[in-house]
Amino acid sequence: MSGCPYFQKRDLLFKSKNHLKEEDQDDVSQEGINRASRGGIIYGDYLQLDRIVNSQVLQSELKGNKIHDEHLFIVTHQAYELWFKQVLWELDSVRNIFISGHVRDERNMLKVNTRIHRIVMIFRLLVDQFAVLETMTALDFFDFREYLSPASGFQSLQFRLLENKIGVPRDQRVPYNRRHYMDIFRGQDSETLRTSEQEPTLLQLVEQWLERTPGLEEDGFNFWGKLEGNIQQGLREEKEKLEKKPESENKEELMAEFVKQRDILTSLFDEKRHDHLLSKGERRLSYKALQGALMIYFYREEPRFQVPFQLLTSLMDIDTLMTKWRYNHVCMVHRMIGSKAGTGGSSGYQYLRSTVSDRYKVFVDLFNLATFLIPRHWVPKLNPNVHTFLYMAECCDSSYCSSEDSD
Ligand code: HEM
Repeated sequence: MSGCPYFQKRDLLFKSKNHLKEEDQDDVSQEGINRASRGGIIYGDYLQLDRIVNSQVLQSELKGNKIHDEHLFIVTHQAYELWFKQVLWELDSVRNIFISGHVRDERNMLKVNTRIHRIVMIFRLLVDQFAVLETMTALDFFDFREYLSPASGFQSLQFRLLENKIGVPRDQRVPYNRRHYMDIFRGQDSETLRTSEQEPTLLQLVEQWLERTPGLEEDGFNFWGKLEGNIQQGLREEKEKLEKKPESENKEELMAEFVKQRDILTSLFDEKRHDHLLSKGERRLSYKALQGALMIYFYREEPRFQVPFQLLTSLMDIDTLMTKWRYNHVCMVHRMIGSKAGTGGSSGYQYLRSTVSDRYKVFVDLFNLATFLIPRHWVPKLNPNVHTFLYMAECCDSSYCSSEDSD
């Protein structure tokens, strides 16, 4: 009998059942104490869920015509507003680190980077979140749209605070029915918005930080002076090489390309031109800050500049993702209401489409830096023994060394 495969299997099954029973007796997954029964704060109270999950009031239901999809519409907006709140939380903390000067202690740069990166990750989520609302059809939306008028995302206080605190300038905004975005806010909201326009923006704080980039001092490494010298030298050599080529159509094309490139590169050192572009809103950073940013770009592999380079990259990510947010939003709006006017009273799709523009890109200068990239061997050389500033963190004085109160 023992050689019979059937009985062998049956034996195995039986054994494993017995085995399980033994395990049941001391199942580690069931070990623990039910702490909640001893008192203290519980999940629902901690998160104030009674308020959050009971805050979905369907206007269609109140009007006696309950429309299923209005629930999704409300929850989606609320989820966006909660994430906006978290972004503002992170943004304010980063701005405070800059404002209080704690950023001079380079250890705090990690904190700045982590929080800015967190904002980037939240925006990634927000860009994709429209897909859930897009499961609602235009007809389903039409069924309850009349009930929510004149409410509109245009009245989102947190969204405007976010734009202001990052640094969207007042004069770059697209007007709304020829009026200013602030006009629809009243009382405390209006006051809060006004304050946000007066406080230092992330752009201004980053600008001041960039202006202090070590290596810009004319009596020190003099990055800008050296860069200009190298670029002039490089351009001269390039021109000589081109001139030596035999006459041909190709040579003409190369020469025309060279002239274009030369004009672009030499324009970099024209401070008056920079100020003119600044006054038109086409550039946002001061001349000095632009130099700092370019320096960080060129020396990004040096230990001292790796974290600053990551920060600049994240700032561009924020701009890119906000543009994608605007784009996804306007595409959804087009699909939901075509070219009808918005519930808030704007032209709707047409108005929103005009906001998907560089006017709203706060760190536009960082994107444009790529225009001025040059061959590696034109970048001024660093000697680690002479230019120690790139290898040693700024010496911290006592007020900067404590990271505790910088939160
Ligand atoms: C069916 C879905 C949606 C439609 C049809 C829609 C429609 C519109 C329209 C037409 C406007 C222009 C202002 C107006 O005249 O009302 C607008 C602005 C706005 N909406 Fe939406 N929206 C939808 C979903 C959302 C969601 C989920 C959010 C998330 C918070 C949102 C946030 C905003 C914001 C912040 C603005 C102001 C944008 C600016 O002025 O740059 N919208 N929306």
